[in-house]
Amino acid sequence: MNKAMENDWQTILSLGAEGGSITLLGKEQHSGEWVFKKAVNEMNFDDLEDESFQPTKSTEKVCTLKSPISNRGNEATSWEKAIKLLDHYPWPMLNPREVHPAFRKRVWSALQKEVKGKYGDRINSYRLKKWSSLCLPEYSPKVDTLSKWLQNSTHTTILTGAGMSTESNIPDFRSKEGWWNNIDPRTVATTDALRDDYDLFHEFYSMRINGLKQCKPNIGHDILADWEQKGLIQAIATQNVDGFHTLAGSKNIYELHGSIHKFRCGNCAMSAEEEDFLSESNCKYCGGKLRPGVVLFGEMLPEESWRDSLTHIQKSDLVIVIGTSLEVYPASQLPKMTNGKTVYINAEVDTTHHNFDLMIEGKAGEILKLVDELV
Ligand code: APR
Repeated sequence: MNKAMENDWQTILSLGAEGGSITLLGKEQHSGEWVFKKAVNEMNFDDLEDESFQPTKSTEKVCTLKSPISNRGNEATSWEKAIKLLDHYPWPMLNPREVHPAFRKRVWSALQKEVKGKYGDRINSYRLKKWSSLCLPEYSPKVDTLSKWLQNSTHTTILTGAGMSTESNIPDFRSKEGWWNNIDPRTVATTDALRDDYDLFHEFYSMRINGLKQCKPNIGHDILADWEQKGLIQAIATQNVDGFHTLAGSKNIYELHGSIHKFRCGNCAMSAEEEDFLSESNCKYCGGKLRPGVVLFGEMLPEESWRDSLTHIQKSDLVIVIGTSLEVYPASQLPKMTNGKTVYINAEVDTTHHNFDLMIEGKAGEILKLVDELV
């Protein structure tokens, strides 16, 4: 980071064009507040005519400068006012040279506003990539590819697993901190456990039910709900029983492994209430043991959810698989049942997942946020 002036003004944003540059400088006050000022180097931009801009593939050298600039309104005491100092220039179309790390997100969202506003399709992807690589160092061409596939897709289905909810502080199953690394699933998540060791079964699911009450959907859930509303995705098939997709506002949800918020008798299948289960009451119809409506190992998946998920997957030209080890059958087979493009977003990506068209290793919430900034 170059200290532009010896009195510790720092470069917040530097933009270049043929024969000149605009620099937004900032200085942090003792209060922690920043003040800003604009510096225009060499040439003037003042009455730069928009139509002088003919964006080309490499738009490095398009901006021609006309006449001198006035020093009107050069300083600002807030970020909002600072970015307004650039209002007079088509700054999103200039060549971004530097963005201060502390201001990357704010510059990116200011740019997004301009992109969605008057510049729309006049900013070519070359320019956008340049901005993204400066504002979003974690940006990868893969995120860009996925955002394009998502925008061009006519039918997109999402398949999620427990990795979708770890950013809500709910453990998954097979990661280092996962449930099955501490508990043998055969002792708690099977019909045998329900029948033969109800106390342990009950303790395990009560712990999960009560644990969920401290948690809420994360940004990943929210973004998927927002994408559904925008028509970017058409369905979510989930292996999760936490109900967080629904809580986040998604409508087209297919719960392949049931729900931990529904309860019934393990004997007569009559439905029951959560408090009946938590209080270890027996079924009021037959006296049988109550259980949550989750699919236990050895049980069939709910027919309707499976059938509808499969229909969406087969109809899709894009299937995005998020936060699942794909170790549990038959959900693990769903990505193979589409002719569309397949994308895998997971914290751990290894060679066993080679049959995906695109694999992005990282946290679901963070990756979805990056994609969301580009769609
Ligand atoms: N973002 C992306 N991926 C993540 C994140 C995250 N924040 N956190 C964890 N992961 C990844 C892990 O690396 C792991 O590969 O999510 C995956 C979760 O895999 P599992 O724990 O095996 O969970 P899941 O695939 O949903 O399990 C399927 O198994 O135990 C049964 O019924 C249970 O529905 C569950 C099924």
